[in-house]
Amino acid sequence: MGLGFRLFARPIIALQDSERAHSRALKLLKLFSSNPFTRIPMRILFKPKKKIPITFLGTTYDHPLGLAAGMDKKAEALRGWENLGLGFIEIGGVTELEQQGNPKPRMFRSDSSNALVNRMGFNNPGSEKTAQNLKKHFDKFGRPNVPLWVNLGKSKLTPLDKSSDDYSTTFMRLWDYGDVFVINVSSPNTPNLRELQNDDELAKIISACQKINKKMSQEKNSNLKPILVKIAPELDDVQLKLVVNTAMKSGCDGIVATNTTTTRPVPNSKSEEKVFSQKGGMSGKPLKKLSTEFIKKIYLMTDGKWPIIGVGGIMSADDAWEKITAGATLIQAYSGFVFEGAGITKSIVKGLQKKLDIHGLSSLQDAVGLSHKIEDVE
Ligand SMILES: Cc1cc2nc3c(=O)[nH]c(=O)nc-3n(C[C@H](O)[C@H](O)[C@H](O)COP(=O)(O)O)c2cc1C
Repeated sequence: MGLGFRLFARPIIALQDSERAHSRALKLLKLFSSNPFTRIPMRILFKPKKKIPITFLGTTYDHPLGLAAGMDKKAEALRGWENLGLGFIEIGGVTELEQQGNPKPRMFRSDSSNALVNRMGFNNPGSEKTAQNLKKHFDKFGRPNVPLWVNLGKSKLTPLDKSSDDYSTTFMRLWDYGDVFVINVSSPNTPNLRELQNDDELAKIISACQKINKKMSQEKNSNLKPILVKIAPELDDVQLKLVVNTAMKSGCDGIVATNTTTTRPVPNSKSEEKVFSQKGGMSGKPLKKLSTEFIKKIYLMTDGKWPIIGVGGIMSADDAWEKITAGATLIQAYSGFVFEGAGITKSIVKGLQKKLDIHGLSSLQDAVGLSHKIEDVE
């Protein structure tokens, strides 16, 4: 499939505007997964045959690869992602208020460097409509058969000092539907959002969400939902330590490293220069090393005891292995789906099983943070 995708689909996609290609792909995925004649072949082609189970916060995932936030902001194609065999699905970012996001064009693709630049600005239907859509979906099809994660963003209109209300309102509205929630204070495309990574602001947001968490779990007689925080790869070591300490102290259950980067590599061509010079966050291959370095640092800071989700530039099993052995329990991809196609999940899961065999490990859990324990984990 990888070769087929590269030979046929990629050249066609390359001719299309990035956002339009993205929305067409989502529509197709939704369509194919709603019809048994296409759903079954889809599963056969793309869903990993074997499981490599891994336990994260008490839940066992079939394998560690999930869909990163931003790909399915409106939770439009849940059955599609299930049938493609994702280990978990993160929807959103969802904000309290509905918003259009930044003017188009706002998503740019560099095929030669396997990179995207986006400045979407949290375009989403808002938490009220998202809750209604999820209710409809759950009533019709039941809960997804893999954990559903929800990415929480902040509405552009909400002043920074009212951020905790914005995040906690969305959290409350979607509490029933999500299995895990991610507080995103790291998108570069909402003015000043990254300032919320500061100590006091972050503590305020987490504490407001934890308050709702306790209230909802009592009301519903159900467990608390795990809350994670997602960080930017531009924090210096002091800032990173502060964010980690604050999030841990405030009762966050783990960290997602990382969001897109505002840094840029040196372009190798005019077309790369055109994409790299766009304002926004870069994802894909150029982010890979930076996000892995963050995972390593967080793993060391927390003695490997605090769950890390690794995201940034995962395109292959080697990239996935690098993130896991750096310290990530689970991993996510966005750009990998754009550049490698829907077959990426199957090939990563297959490749990870091979790595476990090579290293004589019986469980993926034993590979988490392995690069800190032995030198050569290739
Ligand atoms: C178009 C686009 C939209 C995104 N939207 C969000 C978002 O709403 N919330 C979020 O936390 N991350 C968002 N991200 C970041 C991704 O979840 C991920 O952290 C980043 O793309 C790095 O992973 P990758 O290299 O596999 O793409 C977005 C990324 C892209 C490319």
